[in-house]
Amino acid sequence: MSKQFDVIVIGGGPGGYIAAIRAAQLGKNVACVDEWKNSTGGPAPGGTCTNVGCIPSKALLQSSEHFEQASHHFADHGISVSSLKMDAAKMVARKDAVVKQNNDGILYLFKKNKVNFFHGRASFVKVAEGGYEIKVSGAAEETLLGQQIIVATGSNARALPGTPFDEANILSNEGALRLTTVPKKLALIGSGVIGLEMGSVWRRLGAEVTILEGLPDFLGAVDQQIAKEAKKVFEKQGLKIELGVKVGEVKVSKKGVNVAWTNAKGEAQTLEADKLIVSIGRVPNTIGLNAEAVGLKLDERGAIVVDADCRTNLPGVWAVGDVVRGPMLAHKAEEEGVAVAERIAGQHGHVNFNTIPFVIYTSPEIAWVGRTEQQLKADGVAYKAGTFPFLANGRARALGDTTGMVKMLADAATDEILGVHIIGPMASELIAECVMAMEFRASSEDIARICHAHPSLSESTKEAALAVDKRTLNF
Ligand code: NAI
Repeated sequence: MSKQFDVIVIGGGPGGYIAAIRAAQLGKNVACVDEWKNSTGGPAPGGTCTNVGCIPSKALLQSSEHFEQASHHFADHGISVSSLKMDAAKMVARKDAVVKQNNDGILYLFKKNKVNFFHGRASFVKVAEGGYEIKVSGAAEETLLGQQIIVATGSNARALPGTPFDEANILSNEGALRLTTVPKKLALIGSGVIGLEMGSVWRRLGAEVTILEGLPDFLGAVDQQIAKEAKKVFEKQGLKIELGVKVGEVKVSKKGVNVAWTNAKGEAQTLEADKLIVSIGRVPNTIGLNAEAVGLKLDERGAIVVDADCRTNLPGVWAVGDVVRGPMLAHKAEEEGVAVAERIAGQHGHVNFNTIPFVIYTSPEIAWVGRTEQQLKADGVAYKAGTFPFLANGRARALGDTTGMVKMLADAATDEILGVHIIGPMASELIAECVMAMEFRASSEDIARICHAHPSLSESTKEAALAVDKRTLNF
């Protein structure tokens, strides 16, 4: 006899576990199946984000930033440190402890919300009377019957063709977060989000870092004024970034990794490194799902095909997060998970794809929402731009962190905010105000008229809004 549920969520990452909790809050009898194991074989829900993505990378970014501050910037504050030491293995152990707190937090939330958790891999068996039959294999061996199924199986790192990850020398995000000694020379392929975040961590800890990027433009999806500033800052920090390259053969030897590549001028080059991180994007994960057993439709990239409301081609089967179209971001997955749970409960769940914030947790951080200046030009939209540098912000000066700017783009006719782009201290936090403003369809004048605490970095957002109308007060 199979166990019956109103909703079965496959995958316990940010999309899945949040969908499960929301569905349970709405009175549904919910199961969530997740196979991720911790180092002792126990359950580790939270997916890529919690285990090998957002959370551990931020833990290492924080530790390495402390080291960088102590090494290079404490002296500016009149603090001298002698015999400064760094223990990479301890940093990684702390990171593992932070991950475990998050895994345990999710298991606690499941209990609190009466979500039935199964530790194992879920796969479709067949369409059955009253729903879908799902097999769980692994630590838990069960057959479940779900009236509604939410697939939230996430994504996996994309390997270079013909060069699989060995996680010893050729690393994905997983191996990059597990290094316990600092490589002398570190090569990265792909200067996207992971390349820049991981490159920053290991550079701060002493590695000589070279990033090879295929595209001719640095951070092509980012507002180009911000991207140019970012490249300048990162290169000054010591990251070597090569654009417009073509990566050739990758060879592993006793000495490390050898990457053959061609530079933008077409000249053949080689790069010797102790370790190589390949961060060239991710692919949707449907491995072991047995989608074909029920006829669940995938596209040519292997993503589950869904409509704007996350409905698949099968009645009662939904999919959210990295396994479907759209940006591979934890918070996008969460929003979709909540919206699907609400739709299942007969409510009107909604996700506004135009106000999803993007953040790159380098130092300085980069964060944005809405359209870039190049997008507005391409779309033929008449706009006004206002920028304000952190150099002119009192709090940033007091912090000793004055790199970057806030840039606001508003409609030339209506003044509605169309995009905000920030490079600078705490950009990840500052962007929240801008997301809210855009969600409420605020004008730049609205932000300019709101009282912002002094001294705070957020005054730069207000000043950028004032700059749209050419009336900054502090610059
Ligand atoms: P990405 O899509 O951000 O960047 C990949 C980069 O690799 C691109 O610049 C691309 O042009 C380049 N590339 C692709 N193929 C190449 C090749 N053969 N040779 C040289 N360059 C090549 O992907 P990334 O950094 O791997 O991250 C994966 C996903 O994880 C992204 O969707 C990202 O949004 C997400 N993520 C988000 C984070 C955040 O929100 N802070 C942090 C880390 C990852």
